[in-house]
Amino acid sequence: MTIDSPADLAGLKKIGRVVAIALKEMKEYTRPGITTAELDAVGAAVFARFGARSAPQLAYNFPGATCISINNEAAHGIPGSRVIQPGDLVNIDVSAESDGYFADAAVMVAVPPVDTFKHNLVNCARVALQKAAAAAHAGKPINVIGRSIENVARGYGFTTLRDLGGHGVGRNIHETPHNITCFDNPADRRILKEGMVLTIEPFITGGATHVVTAPDGWTLKTSDGSLSAQFEHTLVITRGKPTIITAL
Ligand code: CO
Ligand code: CO
Repeated sequence: MTIDSPADLAGLKKIGRVVAIALKEMKEYTRPGITTAELDAVGAAVFARFGARSAPQLAYNFPGATCISINNEAAHGIPGSRVIQPGDLVNIDVSAESDGYFADAAVMVAVPPVDTFKHNLVNCARVALQKAAAAAHAGKPINVIGRSIENVARGYGFTTLRDLGGHGVGRNIHETPHNITCFDNPADRRILKEGMVLTIEPFITGGATHVVTAPDGWTLKTSDGSLSAQFEHTLVITRGKPTIITAL
């Protein structure tokens, strides 16, 4: 969506805050011994507290309130009986709706002990999001996002996924502009516009450029088994720094 009234911005900020609170509480519970279904219930309880609904459930009939993807799983992991282990890289991706507005964000939790490689992978994804957001000004090509993400990944010696990335959001979970890549794609001539609402979500891996769908029909795993890390925010494009909707 494009924000064109104070009511739009207020509606978006309201659901952005719910998403941020769900992520914060789920993060606090992420430790060895807890199942991903138990973590998901923490997120679902936050939605219930604020009268929000799970966007993946609403839009895609996803079998969970949130997506929890571990290690070589890049996205769309289904919450269930899997028990979090020491050393796991846990990706928690939360998207939700209230009053017809949608927001989408994700964090990584590196469950100790984590080696330098895992630590760097998570840091790289975090920095890639920060750098891409800082470059995303109205009037610039959408591709500044992908170029910035790819540059950060290369600097760390990591790879970015070519088949996952950011997207427009606001009135639906996925809307135009679609396919905001995590790599430099100069052929993409679309321009960032003031008020545009979108996600930035760098997918950084230890080598994979593509994902494959697991037999459960949902979970997207790296094609070569390498680790994946992703952070995500929903933001509104301005002439200066974007307004981050999903930060507390
Ligand atoms: Co997401
Ligand atoms: Co997203």
